[in-house]
Amino acid sequence: MCGIVGYSGKRDAVGLLTSGLSKLEYRGYDSAGIAVCKADGTVEMVKSKGRLAILEEKLANKGLSGNAGIGHTRWATHGEPSDANSHPHRSGRVTLVHNGIIENYMQLKEELIAEGKVFLSDTDTEVVVALIDRFYEEDPIEAIYKTTAVIRGSYALGVMFDDIPNTIYAIRKDSPLVIGVGKDEVIIASDIPAFLSETRDYYLLDEGELAIVRDGTVSFCDATLAEHKKELLTASWDVEAAEKGGYPHFMLKEMHEQPKTLKDTVFPRIDEAGNILKNELKDTSYIKRIHIVGCGSAMHAGLLGKAFIEKYARVPVSVEIASEFRYANPVLGEGDVIVLISQSGETADSLAVIKLAKELNIPTVGIVNVVGSSIARAADTVIYTNAGPEIAVATTKAYTAQVSVLYLLGLRLAADRGTIGTADYNAIVEALKLLPEAAKKVLENEEHYKELAKEYFEARDMFFIGRGQDSALCCEGSLKLKEISYMHSEAYAAGELKHGTISLISEGVPVVAVATTEAMFEKTVSNIKEVTSRGADVIFVTQFDDVGGFYKDKIALPAIHEAIMPILAIIPLQLFAYYVSIERGCDVDKPRNLAKSVTVE
Ligand code: G6P
Repeated sequence: MCGIVGYSGKRDAVGLLTSGLSKLEYRGYDSAGIAVCKADGTVEMVKSKGRLAILEEKLANKGLSGNAGIGHTRWATHGEPSDANSHPHRSGRVTLVHNGIIENYMQLKEELIAEGKVFLSDTDTEVVVALIDRFYEEDPIEAIYKTTAVIRGSYALGVMFDDIPNTIYAIRKDSPLVIGVGKDEVIIASDIPAFLSETRDYYLLDEGELAIVRDGTVSFCDATLAEHKKELLTASWDVEAAEKGGYPHFMLKEMHEQPKTLKDTVFPRIDEAGNILKNELKDTSYIKRIHIVGCGSAMHAGLLGKAFIEKYARVPVSVEIASEFRYANPVLGEGDVIVLISQSGETADSLAVIKLAKELNIPTVGIVNVVGSSIARAADTVIYTNAGPEIAVATTKAYTAQVSVLYLLGLRLAADRGTIGTADYNAIVEALKLLPEAAKKVLENEEHYKELAKEYFEARDMFFIGRGQDSALCCEGSLKLKEISYMHSEAYAAGELKHGTISLISEGVPVVAVATTEAMFEKTVSNIKEVTSRGADVIFVTQFDDVGGFYKDKIALPAIHEAIMPILAIIPLQLFAYYVSIERGCDVDKPRNLAKSVTVE
C-alpha cells in the first residue's frame, strides 16, 4: 500500500524524504512525489509516475530544498498510475499526502463539483485536500477535524498549509502512521523502516489524534484541541523485520491484513441505500451467462463465485482455467460475459483470454488487484480488489478480496434480476459489513491452528472434503497447503470420495472436512463418518454445534450468514498451511518452483 514520509528539522528534507520513501518500497508503489516548504515559505511539489529514481532525477533538475516536507509512494487504487494521480495533491492553500481509501468520495466529490471545485485527478485523495481547503478559515486543526468528520473510510494524512511554514499536521484512522523523533528532527512515516537509520525512538499515533510537527518538534492534540503527552517508544526491530511489520513472513502479515483488506474491498462498494457496485457496473441486463476465468487461486475464487451467483442471481456460470479456455475454442455468444480474475493483472494465460474475448466481441469484467495492470487496462469493466500489494507468493488477502467481489457481483445481479428477496439481500449485505470484525475473531484463534499444524505436519498426504461452496473452498485450502509445505494434498467433493479416492484413506490419514451450510451439514457428516470408520483423522471446520465423536479435532468458526462463510473458513486453512510449512522448514514466502506473477504460458 501507499507509503507516507514527512520530515521537519534542520537538515534538508528532500534527501531524507526520498531515502525514507526508498525504505518503504517493499510496500509496493507505482508512482511517487514530494512537497517541500522552501526557505521563502512557499510549498513546491514534484511528482512522477514510476520508480523513485525518476522522481529523484526530476528533483535534482528542480534543485528543490527546504527544511520540512511530505513524501509519498502511491499504490494506485482510485485512478491509474499517472503523474496527475500521484501524491501530494494540492487544493488552494493546502498540500496533502494520503494512505487509505475514502469510501464516500464520489458523493463528496459531486458536492464539491456543484460548488465549483475543479478536480485534476481521479483519486479519492483529492476530495480530502479540497475539503480541508474548503473548511480552512483561520484554524488548520479545525479544518482537518471538520474534514475527518465527513469522510468515511481509512486514512493516514500528512498535511501542509501554505501560510503555516515548516509545519506538518498528521492524523490517521485505520491506516498506520508512526512518528520518529531524532535530535531536533521529526520524521513521520507509514512504517518504522522509513526512519530506522535516523532514529529508533518513535510515537504511535492513535486513531483520531492529531500530531503537529514543527521545526523538529512534535506535539499532540485531539478534537477538543487539548494538547496531551504521549509515551515515547523504542524500536527493537531490525530493518527486515520492520518491513514485515514485525511478522516473520509476508504471508503471515498478509493473512493478518485481511480484516482491513476485506473492509477496503467491500465497504466502498455498498452505498448508504444498500446499492452495490453502482460506480463500477452500469447495466447488467445484457448478462445471460457468465464465464469466470482465472489461474490458480483466482480460479478457485471463481468456484465460490459460481456457487453464490447461481444460487442468488440464477445466472448460469462456468468456471474455467485460463490456459485451457484460451485454446478450447469456447462456445460464446450474445449475452455471454467473461469475468477475468487476477491478482497481478499480468498472468499471461488470463491476458490471452481477454484478448480472445475482444476478438470475439464478448464483454469482459476484470476483477483485478493491481491498478493499471494489463488485464485492468484491457477489460471493458474493472472491479478492483483493494487488497494492497501482495508480496508472498501464496495468495491469501487477494483471494479473500476476490471472493468478496464475486459475492458483491452476485448480489448486484440478483437485485437487478429480482431473484433475491429483500430479507435475504439485506441479511447478506449486513453480514458483509460484519465480515472484517468476524475475520479478526478467526485470526484470534491462531494458536489453535498452529497447534493443529504441529499435530499433522508429518503426514504424507492430506485430503480436503466438503459439499457445494465447501467443496470449492477445499480446493483453495488444499492448494495453500501443498504449494507452501510440499505435502501432497487433494480436494474432493465429499460425496465423490467414495468413487475411488476413499481407497487412499487408511489409519491416520488426515482429512480436513468443511461444513458451512445447514442444508449440507448432515450429508457432510455422513461422509466424515465414512472416512473416520476407515481410520482417517478428521479436522472438522464448521460454525455449527455438533454432538462430536466423529472427528479428531475441530476448528469452530464464528457465526455469520452462511452464504459468505467461505471467506471466514479459508482463513484458518491459510494459517494451518502456513504453520505446517514452518514446521516442515519450508521457505514460506518463496516456495520452490513457484512465481508470484506468471507472465509466460
Ligand atoms: C501464480 C500465483 C498464485 C495465483 C496465480 C494467478 O500461480 O502463485 O497465487 O493464484 O498465479 O495469478 P493472478 O495474478 O492472475 O491472480
